[in-house]
Amino acid sequence: MTRVISIANQKGGVGKTTTAINLSSALSHLGKKVLLVDFDSQGNATRGLNFEGTSMPLTIFDAITGQVDIRLAIQSTKEANLDLVPANLKLASLDSYLQSQGVDKPFFLLKNALQSVRENYDFIFIDCPPSLGLLSINALVASDSVLIPVQCEYFAMEAVAAILSTISKIQKDYNPNLKIEGFLLTMYEQNASLCTEVAQQVRGLFKENTFLTVIPRNISIPEASAHGEAVTTYRPTAKGSLAYFALAREVLDHVETKA
Ligand SMILES: Nc1ncnc2c1ncn2[C@@H]1O[C@H](COP(=O)(O)OP(=O)(O)OP(=O)(O)O)[C@@H](O)[C@H]1O
Ligand SMILES: [Mg+2]
Repeated sequence: MTRVISIANQKGGVGKTTTAINLSSALSHLGKKVLLVDFDSQGNATRGLNFEGTSMPLTIFDAITGQVDIRLAIQSTKEANLDLVPANLKLASLDSYLQSQGVDKPFFLLKNALQSVRENYDFIFIDCPPSLGLLSINALVASDSVLIPVQCEYFAMEAVAAILSTISKIQKDYNPNLKIEGFLLTMYEQNASLCTEVAQQVRGLFKENTFLTVIPRNISIPEASAHGEAVTTYRPTAKGSLAYFALAREVLDHVETKA
């Protein structure tokens, strides 16, 4: 059965895209068929997998606005089991485009667009933008669960409270089946006391829902992005890669126990 997972947190720079790319890649290395949907007009997941968003003929924008079937926007990546739906700046004009078309409450656009490909994949990951606007709502409406990266730093908990409140609203109004896949501690530095403190707070509040795997701060991760590759491919034995493989196995365990 396919599992659609949003990677979301409205706080910027917490490791959403890094997690989207590397968890997708790790699961694809473990033999799962994965689709990564870049759902951020920054196009970072697109660039991180070596595609140039501006030169993409078709993107997620064209698919969710119903101009083309999403199948036409899917790109195969260098990784055998990993496909990508790219995004670029055009996605930032979604609100004004929908207004000009007189579309009311456009919250099911992504869910509808994914319908025709859902069954072709074991996992579909949605890399959300750093906001809780229309795009994130569409992502959460389309998802079975949400994975929330939490960077161990100031104001981490405020961001967590905001996303939890959005999740509750979506569960109530549009997607009662939406689950929390888990909180993921990212860019962890063992010797930084603030890091340990945030980690303890998250585990204290959400013990059952926090992944055992912690993603360490690791230089190979940005290096891999600069090469247009997942770190799990670029340097499979780097600390960051091992952590994303461990996370992939935890996600697989979730699927197996919940199946
Ligand atoms: N574990 C890590 N170790 C070192 N650097 C990391 C790690 N995780 C992420 N980074 C770096 O931190 C920066 C922010 O990460 P990323 O782009 O994944 O965050 P994001 O939440 O997607 O940001 P945005 O909110 O802008 O979409 C990037 O430069 C990325 O390479
Ligand atoms: Mg991002």
